Amino acid sequence: MKNIKEALNWRYATKKFDVSKKIDTETKVDLLEVLRLSPSSYGLQPWKFIVINNKEMREKIKLVAYGQSQITDASDMIIFANKKNIDGALVEEYMKFIAKENGIPVANLDGFKNMINGSFVGKSNEELRSWAACQTYLAAGNLLTSCAVAGIDACPMEGFDRNKLDELLGLSALGLESKMIVTMGYRDITDEDATKKKIRFPKEEVFIEIN
Ligand SMILES: Cc1cc2nc3c(=O)[nH]c(=O)nc-3n(C[C@H](O)[C@H](O)[C@H](O)COP(=O)(O)O)c2cc1C
Repeated sequence: MKNIKEALNWRYATKKFDVSKKIDTETKVDLLEVLRLSPSSYGLQPWKFIVINNKEMREKIKLVAYGQSQITDASDMIIFANKKNIDGALVEEYMKFIAKENGIPVANLDGFKNMINGSFVGKSNEELRSWAACQTYLAAGNLLTSCAVAGIDACPMEGFDRNKLDELLGLSALGLESKMIVTMGYRDITDEDATKKKIRFPKEEVFIEIN
C-alpha cells in the first residue's frame, strides 16, 4: 500500500511532456492490457480504446483540444470512447462470446441475458450511453493508477470538443462517442505543475462513515 500511496502522491496531471522521452514497447503493451482487464458492469465492456500513433492525426486532434500541448508532446495517447447503442443486440453478442469462451450453449445464459436486458427497460438511450461512459472512466482510472505505479506520467483530459473529435475520427459511424483522452509519457523538467501542492479535501470532507 505504501508504494501505491507514494505513486499517487508522485503523479500529477502532467501539463508539459518531454518530447524526447518515449514509453518502451513492452510497458506500452502492459498498459493496454490494463485497459483490457478493466472491470465493467455485467462485464459488458461497452468501450473502445483508440490508440493514436499517427503524428499528423495528433496534430489535428490538438486543434480540437484547444491547443493543449500534451496531445502532441506526450509519448502516447489513448482516446476513451463508449458504445452508443446499448441494447439487446449488444447483449446478445456478449452472450455468444461468453458461451464460446466457456464452451457452453448460449441458451444456458438466458437468465443472465434477461437480467441485463431487464435492467435496460425504461431507460433512455441517453441514460444507457451515460452509464456506458461511466465504465470507460473506470478503465481510465485504472490506467492512471497503473501509470503512476510504473513511474509513467499521464494527463487525463476532457478539454476537447467531443463532437469535432468524433467527426475527425469518424466515430459516429462506428457506433462510438469519445469521452476522454489520456496522454502518457515523461514530464518535462520545466513543468511547474510537478512541484505544486496536491490539493485534496481533508478526510472529514470526503468520507461518510456509518458505523
Ligand atoms: C476527467 C478529467 C478531465 C481532465 N481534463 C484535463 C484537461 O483537459 N487538461 C488538463 O491539463 N488537465 C485535465 N485534467 C486534470 C485535472 O485538472 C487534475 O487531475 C486535477 O486538478 C487534480 O490534480 P492532479 O491530477 O495533478 O493531482 C482532467 C482530469 C480529469 C480527471
